[in-house]
Formats: sequence, C-alpha cells, structure tokens
Amino acid sequence: MSALSELYAEIARCRKCEIAKYRTNVVPGEGRDDADILFIGEAPGWNEDQQGRPFVGPAGQYLDELLALISLKREQVYIANVIKCRPSGNRDPLPTEIGNCRQWLDRQIELIKPKMIVTLGRYSMAMFFPNKSISKIHGTAQRRDNVIYYAMYHPAAALHQQSLRQVIEEDMLKIPVLLVEVEKVAEVKPEPRQLNMFEVF
Ligand code: URA
Repeated sequence: MSALSELYAEIARCRKCEIAKYRTNVVPGEGRDDADILFIGEAPGWNEDQQGRPFVGPAGQYLDELLALISLKREQVYIANVIKCRPSGNRDPLPTEIGNCRQWLDRQIELIKPKMIVTLGRYSMAMFFPNKSISKIHGTAQRRDNVIYYAMYHPAAALHQQSLRQVIEEDMLKIPVLLVEVEKVAEVKPEPRQLNMFEVF
C-alpha cells in the first residue's frame, strides 16, 4: 500500500466534523503521487460526494479544459480540496472544518512534494496567502522554500461569471512558464528567494 493510499484510509476514518456523518464518500483527492503541480479547491460538491473524487462536476469539467490549455490531463497533476467532506447544502466550509482538515492537506503536501501549489478560490488562497484578496493576487506567484505558490480564481466562479473566463484562462497559461523558471533558478541557487519575474505583493 502506498503512503498516499494509507493516508486515504486514515482520512476515511476521520469523524472530527459533524459533516462526516452526512457524507456519501470522503473525497481525499487524486492524481500522481509525485505530481509537480498540486491544485487545491474548496470542498466536495454533490457530484464529488457521490463519486468520492474531486472536481468531477461542472467545475471539474472546466478544470479539465483549463488543464488542456497547458497540455495537461488531470492524471498528470494532483487535485485536492481544503476540506474532504461535502458541507451540507454546498455551504461554505466553516473555520473549524478547515482547521480540522488541515492536517490531511499538510500530509498530502509532505508526501507529494509538489513544485507548485495552485490555489483555486478564496478558501485555499487564504491558507497560503493570508489576508490577501483574490481579485488582487490572482495570477501572481510567490516562491517559498523552493515551492511556488500561485493563486487563481475558482473554476466555478468563471462558470458563473463569464467575464472571469478570460482571466482564469490567462492565469492558467502562466503556469508552465513559472514551473520552468523555478527549475532553472533552483539549479543555480537552491536557497529560497524571491524570483524577479514573480510579483511581489
Ligand atoms: N469545487 C471544489 O472546490 N472542489 C471540488 O472538488 C468540486 C467543486
């Protein structure tokens, strides 16, 4: 059993939050266990809860299209959420739920060791870019300890608001450039530092 599968089994036993009682399936995440890019959404919706897989509803279809823009398939990346159980009635995750679930995401990051963490939407952004506003920092990156943190709008937001489509697609198209740049810089100077091409905010 791989370390990630063992972690999935542990997540499936978690009953810390009330919403665990109502889930059909826990949705730990899926993808390559050594993915370069980790995408982090918000929480499972109805479709995800039914299937036990992240981003399989309309937002997920759009995420697949966004990945195709940079010639990637979901199997080549890793996709997770801030919380692993569906909040009742698709409400926003509660701070206690986010706090209870944080350990699972931290362990996924430890095991996968992604080069880039892409936050999708406000909730995952808040974990890595505290006190920032998504309208200001989407499409910008920060490098810390050789990991690039990159904030994007949530695909569902672009589905609901046509004007965000171009924005989210442009932000997606920057990902390959950022990945290449971090590799180049890491070879020369492994110490964490801010890259010139990265926006400072
Ligand atoms: N929205 C999310 O944030 N995550 C999913 O898995 C599906 C929709």
